[in-house]
Amino acid sequence: MGSAADFADARARAAALAGRTSFRIGGVPELLFEPSTVAEVAEVVVACKAARVPLRVLGGGCNLLVADGPLPGAVLATTRLRHERVLDDRVEVGAGGSFPGLVSRAAELSIPTLSGCPGIPGQVGGVVAMNAGGRFGYVADALLEVFAVDLDGRPFARVVEPGDLGYRTSVFLGAAVVVAASFRRDRSLDRDAERRRFLEASAWKRSTQPMSAASAGCVFKNPPGGRSAGAIIDAAGLKGERVGGAMVSPVHANYIVNDADATFADVEALIGRVRERVAATTGVHLELEVQVWR
Ligand code: EPU
Repeated sequence: MGSAADFADARARAAALAGRTSFRIGGVPELLFEPSTVAEVAEVVVACKAARVPLRVLGGGCNLLVADGPLPGAVLATTRLRHERVLDDRVEVGAGGSFPGLVSRAAELSIPTLSGCPGIPGQVGGVVAMNAGGRFGYVADALLEVFAVDLDGRPFARVVEPGDLGYRTSVFLGAAVVVAASFRRDRSLDRDAERRRFLEASAWKRSTQPMSAASAGCVFKNPPGGRSAGAIIDAAGLKGERVGGAMVSPVHANYIVNDADATFADVEALIGRVRERVAATTGVHLELEVQVWR
């Protein structure tokens, strides 16, 4: 017992990731670490590297499809990395902070554009690494600086530059553990306009996406050329298509929902069917947007 990087503790703590993913699917990892500080994150990274144990980073588990069987290697959950510092020109939030919680206070905190991100679930770290967003705003728009630990266990800070964040990706994804991020404050922000933007975006999101279903959000990336994968899957007649407990959402066809105890295999088979049908009818080869752990 003792250190944050204790393997025996991490083995004892490991439980099915179904309880930590929005899909409600996922088996038990060999090791589960939950560090509370940057130093502890570094310790875990160093210990896993020394033991040659592969390490995966778990944020809110909202864009993730995890295999049912035992999962090889270690998982580092960022849930306990929570702090918030409100400074004059920025707000710094730990990676484990709730992103919807931040979005709902963005107008109050004078953070621009984040009021356009309601209905995006997850923790701040994961949302930054994946550059979540939508038609009313992207995380990248308000992000100033990212604090992370690299894969050798060295903490670093990086002022975000154009090009660091792309479409559902960033330079941090797979290359570092994001431990905190700071967001720009603009004291001249029109807070009422931001609150209206929040309400408008929330209403739009609720009417076009299956917000309360168990899912991992959009499954496929939109193909180049500005087309929506959802619209393409819909046009292929796949809404309501089902394998076991997994179904293509009748609300938005780029969502697969787990509405009846779906297994990883159900979702995987449905993904394969959607890809095949879309390729056969349109020639489009859809790429996965969700991260798959197996
Ligand atoms: N559409 C259909 N049928 C469908 C779904 C969409 O005809 O089943 C049509 C819509 O009516 C609309 C067009 O397709 O005319 C575009 O749809 P939408 O505005 O929902 O945008 P999207 O391109 O399908 C992207 C993101 C979403 C994000 C929305 C809104 C991707 C893969 N998806 O979807 O992100 O919420 O824009 O900004 O980039 C996610 O990443 O998990 C996600 C949900």
